[in-house]
Amino acid sequence: MPDTAPMPPNLAPVLAQIDSALPSALNRLLDLLRIPSISTDPAYASECHKAAEWLVNDLISLGFDAAVRPTQGHPMVVATGGNGGPHLLFYGHYDVQPVDPLDLWHRGPFDPAIEETAKGRVIRGRGSSDDKGQLMTFLEALRAWRAVHGTLPCRLTIFLEGEEESGSPSLIPFMQENAAELGADLALICDTGLFQSRSPAIVTMLRGLMGEEVTITGPNKDLHSGMYGGLAINPIRVLTRILAGLHDETGRVTLKGFYDGVGDLPEEIAAQWQALAFDHGAFLGDVGLSVPAGEQSATPLQMIWSRPTAEVNGIWGGYTGDGFKTVLPSKASAKVSFRLVGQQDPAAVREAFRAYVRAALPADCSAEFHAHGASPAGHMSVAHPAFEAARSALAEEWGLPAAYVGCGGSIPIAGYFKTYLGMDAMLVGFAKDDDAIHSPNEKYDVESFHKGIRSWARLLAKLV
Ligand code: BES
Ligand code: ZN
Repeated sequence: MPDTAPMPPNLAPVLAQIDSALPSALNRLLDLLRIPSISTDPAYASECHKAAEWLVNDLISLGFDAAVRPTQGHPMVVATGGNGGPHLLFYGHYDVQPVDPLDLWHRGPFDPAIEETAKGRVIRGRGSSDDKGQLMTFLEALRAWRAVHGTLPCRLTIFLEGEEESGSPSLIPFMQENAAELGADLALICDTGLFQSRSPAIVTMLRGLMGEEVTITGPNKDLHSGMYGGLAINPIRVLTRILAGLHDETGRVTLKGFYDGVGDLPEEIAAQWQALAFDHGAFLGDVGLSVPAGEQSATPLQMIWSRPTAEVNGIWGGYTGDGFKTVLPSKASAKVSFRLVGQQDPAAVREAFRAYVRAALPADCSAEFHAHGASPAGHMSVAHPAFEAARSALAEEWGLPAAYVGCGGSIPIAGYFKTYLGMDAMLVGFAKDDDAIHSPNEKYDVESFHKGIRSWARLLAKLV
């Protein structure tokens, strides 16, 4: 139940400062949201750089020693500041997802604004929730702390990435090369959500991800489908048959060895989730659906948090423009991703997928593959005493107990902190299910932003 411990005397003025400075905090976020830092599209590389520079300047204004750090891809931002107490590292990502389909946005994705809606005030714009709004909750908590106390609350390292939405290709080498500088007592990550949009939540398990792009080639050029159709092989037909074979009739993925390493849900986690009373009807109902469509043997919560998946994220080939064209295409392509759990090995799943496609090719067809990101599932230990402190800080702010939850999405770095730097990571975030992350009209509730900042201030007051 919500903790009713007396408020430490260093906290009340910080919370008051957060409340009174909210309008200027919102303006700073809107500034950052105007930078179209789409990491997956090379055309936006200079915008990613601009976002990194904006953050460095913001961190310098908070008293940090901060720099844009080049990588093979988009730069990292690393900042150090503060003295004494525990050494905390904060991670967030400044890159955002592409905006298409653009015509479904009610306003320009990079022309952000505060909008009044039936459910309250929201910050509208790409990245408002994932992850610029969330990462700014932490920086704004530091700003308020500094305004009140004149210093940062403790020794801090801020580590911001610009490639999270593209699978974090530069992350492991960067962490290895800068291990001494990035080491801290605990990593804090703000890139997840509230449970059922209401309860504060700490994520203890995330799925991994492996992405593949496949192109099937048949004839050496596009053909007239009347002249050749029936005689010539159609690569779209081949591709769709192959993709349809990825699942059996019970929803299980058919790739050989796919379930190696999946394992059973640990009892402790199963008990935590049992207590959550997940309303899958409401969760699906909000997006116009009603029937769980995963493995028939799994519960709805398991389907999104602890079971692996195979999904086609995009498919193209032939003529898709206006009107009609009777073409028998030379090529057909798809982007396919696999959410991974337990000890599933992304490289092994990639090989199993490629072997399956190659074995299913008919005569005269060939397949080309292009690898996208790969990261294993993440499992967070909650043994560090900061977890109990965080749970009571969150309960005090939100008036509801803080839940230990899973996350169906992937944040590659979450597990890397342990693997490469030997430190625990705590995932706390304030996004709501209807934030439309990765979709048109992404938003972040002003409530998430405001109470998110207050949550970090409360958490810091307990930790320092
Ligand atoms: N913030 C999300 C992860 C997330 C998703 C948290 C849903 C809570 C609910 C993160 O930025 C993200 O979208 N990650 C990508 C990673 C991928 C491109 C490697 C994802 O999960 O698709
Ligand atoms: Zn994110």
